Amino acid sequence: MSLLYKIIFLLFLCTSSCAAFEDPLGEFCNKDTNISSGSKLSSNIDKLLSQLVLKTPSTGFVATTYGKYKQDQVFGLAQCRGDVSTQDCFNCIQDAAKQIRDRCPDQADARIWYDYCFLRYNSKSFIGEVDTSFGIFYFNVENVTDPKGFNKELGTLMDQIRAQAVMPKDEGLGKGNSKLSPFVTLYALVQCTRDLSELSCAQCLAIAVNNFSTFCNNRKGCRVLYSSCYVRYELYPFYFPLDSKNKGDSKTLRAIVYP
Ligand SMILES: *[C@@H]1O[C@H](CO)[C@@H](O)[C@H](O)[C@H]1NC(C)=O
Ligand SMILES: *[C@@H]1O[C@H](CO)[C@@H](O)[C@H](O)[C@H]1NC(C)=O
Ligand SMILES: *[C@@H]1O[C@H](CO)[C@@H](O)[C@H](O)[C@H]1NC(C)=O
Repeated sequence: MSLLYKIIFLLFLCTSSCAAFEDPLGEFCNKDTNISSGSKLSSNIDKLLSQLVLKTPSTGFVATTYGKYKQDQVFGLAQCRGDVSTQDCFNCIQDAAKQIRDRCPDQADARIWYDYCFLRYNSKSFIGEVDTSFGIFYFNVENVTDPKGFNKELGTLMDQIRAQAVMPKDEGLGKGNSKLSPFVTLYALVQCTRDLSELSCAQCLAIAVNNFSTFCNNRKGCRVLYSSCYVRYELYPFYFPLDSKNKGDSKTLRAIVYP
């Protein structure tokens, strides 16, 4: 499959505190969906966003629509990472709702990614569909010293938590760790948006993991952010409840991949 990718690499420092209350990990404003700011659709987006802010924290997930008539109806989805607290979820969704309007003021299709949450809306329905058309990859600049052994352990852990994520009771979330040596532990988390079926969730996670070889190849840590799923692994604890060991500060690179 040969697709043309426009890849932008940005170098920046991301410390352990870069998750909530701050700039998003990325956003996508679909420039083919421009709308005028005074329109009914635009005001419906504002109303949808206030509903998402209100309703998401209690359950961690909302997929809904706003608007009486088809021509100005908008579909929205907001989800927090399954391991974060209600308070962190609330803060994240609130930031996301504000930032998405600041960053994509004139688009009917917009998405925004944080570590603790994801939010998107579109005038076309996307609920239940796997979407990996736009991807953001974050990867550690450092490489592991024993790629062969590491990839074997990573593969095993990924299989394990992907199997968790598609269990109905786990609501799209899988997480776990694996001791690589007495001093080194690998931590990983995967999550699908909760509107996906088990099959679609498995499909999204498989696409993410299959793309490890492109952006995450032998890296000490990596994140894949799609509109339908999130995959991350690190050699330090990053998901809740946090392991007692110190959180790692690591230098990461970002790649944004457009279809
Ligand atoms: C949408 O608007 C942006 C500016 O905000 C512009 O760059 C882009 O070309 C427009 N897209 C279309 C399809 O008109
Ligand atoms: C890690 O490996 C990649 C190639 O796979 C290389 O481009 C990069 O410079 C390496 N990073 C370090 C810190 O050595
Ligand atoms: C990832 O892999 C799938 C096939 O497994 C492919 O269709 C997709 O374009 C790849 N690239 C990105 C950046 O997601």
